[in-house]
Amino acid sequence: MSSKNLVERETWTGKLGFILACIGSAIGLGNIWMFPWRLGQFGGAAFLIPYLLFVFLLGTTGLMGEFAFGRSQQRGPIGAFEKVFKEKNIPFGAIIGSIPVAAIGGIFTFYSVVVGWVLKYFSLAVLGAFHHMDIDSAFESFAGHPESIFWNILAILITLSIVIFGIKQGIEKVNKIMMPSLFIIFILLMVRSLSLPGSIEGVNYLLLPDWSYLLKPITWIMALGQAFFTVSLGGGAMLVLGSYLRKDEDIPSSAIQTAFFDTSAAFLAAFIIIPAAFAFHLDVSAGPPLLFITMPHIFTKLSGGTFFGIAFFLCIIFAAISTEVALMEVIVEAFMDRLGFSRKKGVIAAACIGIVFGIPLDLNMSLFGKFADFITIYLLPLSALLAAIAFFWIYGIERAQAEVNQGALRPLGKWWGFFAKYIFVFVAAIVLVLGIIYGGI
Ligand code: PFF
Ligand code: NA
Repeated sequence: MSSKNLVERETWTGKLGFILACIGSAIGLGNIWMFPWRLGQFGGAAFLIPYLLFVFLLGTTGLMGEFAFGRSQQRGPIGAFEKVFKEKNIPFGAIIGSIPVAAIGGIFTFYSVVVGWVLKYFSLAVLGAFHHMDIDSAFESFAGHPESIFWNILAILITLSIVIFGIKQGIEKVNKIMMPSLFIIFILLMVRSLSLPGSIEGVNYLLLPDWSYLLKPITWIMALGQAFFTVSLGGGAMLVLGSYLRKDEDIPSSAIQTAFFDTSAAFLAAFIIIPAAFAFHLDVSAGPPLLFITMPHIFTKLSGGTFFGIAFFLCIIFAAISTEVALMEVIVEAFMDRLGFSRKKGVIAAACIGIVFGIPLDLNMSLFGKFADFITIYLLPLSALLAAIAFFWIYGIERAQAEVNQGALRPLGKWWGFFAKYIFVFVAAIVLVLGIIYGGI
């Protein structure tokens, strides 16, 4: 037995710590800069039908699979794939298990770039700078330029300073503060946004269903890609969080709660951003312009704008940093489990990877876009599919289902195994294929 196996694997202090870490991993930029825009763009309330269907049927199934895969093997992706492949004498388990780690490393890299932008805009909000600057040109003269390297490194160092303390003292502790705060501030911001004259137009935009969108395949494609991404499927983050889970924790209910709170955060973000944008007659787009141009404009026009601007960017920091820590943990776990690194060495190595790969993205926005697309369209869906095949097919659906049900207050019936093995795996493959065809979900 090698020395690394002598160190006992850390576990969560209890269900709350685990759930909050899962919610922290799930709630992120996907909720804030993609969901509000997609909801409006693809038929308003009509979009909710495929979206909720996919999140609560497929998303929860995928989450249960990843939690249980991690818990059953007590390893991150590389070790988990290796173990189940070896059992069936299938070669290359560790190599295939490295694909999810690479995907997560990629997300970690570009997420850190964006968190850097958010930190910069948070500092601008604190300084009250939106009032005195040219908001429209400021983002372009910042992102893609050397100054952003500083903020990117700061984002990584903040993440490092949490992950270095491990599961209980690091990840669990910050999520216990960040997640409740996030929801409280989000609710405050929503009340403020909905109190603006003219905001009702935005509510209509979000909620009046245009049913014709249900006949368009793109609506379903967008909902499907969003559902997988938003709950953090990808054979990495959720699998690793699950690998620290004790056998008596309830996996099905954890998955459902993660999906529920992630969806709630997405709704709150939509009802903060869109009504405010309508109240001030601003365009709603997705991605960087929404957070770094549209929202700052709103904060200059709103009474109490400085305060609400600070609160808004603080929320994004909470949402994104809590995702970052889960992403970094995947890389750190791999270094500890595979190379026998101490946690301290592991976080330093992970930080170096994020910085070395991040700097080119800091300096070149088109490279940033291509990199983020490559990871989210190809590598992450591929990883989600591989994890599902490894667990539901290779480990075997009967044992997989027994693992999911262990500790569950209400164990799932046989139908779930059938659904996971055939429908979920099939749809996970579809996400990948459609992403390739349509060039992005
Ligand atoms: N769920 C995150 C979001 O909505 O922003 C993104 C994400 C994180 C995807 C971690 C995948 C992952 F493993
Ligand atoms: Na999300």
